[in-house]
Amino acid sequence: MSTLIINDVSMEAKVGERMLNVARRNAAHIGFMCDNAGTCQGCRCQVLTGAEHLSPPNEAELAWIPAARVAEGQRLACQAIIHGQGEIRVLSRAEELRRLVFAMIAPRAGESRLNPIAPLVAILGQTSLDQLARFPGNVFASLVRVGPMRFAFPVIDRDRLFSDVQRVVRHVRATAAQPTGQKLRAIPILRATSDAAPNES
Ligand code: FES
Repeated sequence: MSTLIINDVSMEAKVGERMLNVARRNAAHIGFMCDNAGTCQGCRCQVLTGAEHLSPPNEAELAWIPAARVAEGQRLACQAIIHGQGEIRVLSRAEELRRLVFAMIAPRAGESRLNPIAPLVAILGQTSLDQLARFPGNVFASLVRVGPMRFAFPVIDRDRLFSDVQRVVRHVRATAAQPTGQKLRAIPILRATSDAAPNES
């Protein structure tokens, strides 16, 4: 067993599991839409510690994430597989953006609601520029890798997608209701998530 800490919430992970499958099982706040095809980019994460316990970035990640960002620890949670036993700590892009938006809407005492604007613009701008810089190679590589049908219609299990999204939304609401700084326990497992490889799920 390894310990995966996503957005400050600790959860158990088995060697061989994809980070995203652990996240979905625990309703962690990570974006996902393409059922592990590696094409939607919703599951982008920053690995903060424990990168050595993950598989190296694969073809799908290198097609979309510039080398400089990979070197900084950016990964796709649906492609990164837990290889070693140890602790891995990540912050999802979805949660990073949520925290910044939340800090604008409800700033802490003594903080300006303008403070998050600069980092928010920087993240959105950087992401857009990164994707533009990789275009059209990123799209072409994905078309070759998963095929045009899977690229155009990435969702395989729509029911599971809706179910998992609802659980994530409930979890995010519960998180937002907690006093600042309080850690949440991983919520109970409601539905098993497949560990199938990207082209199998
Ligand atoms: S879930 Fe779509 S790229 Fe990871």
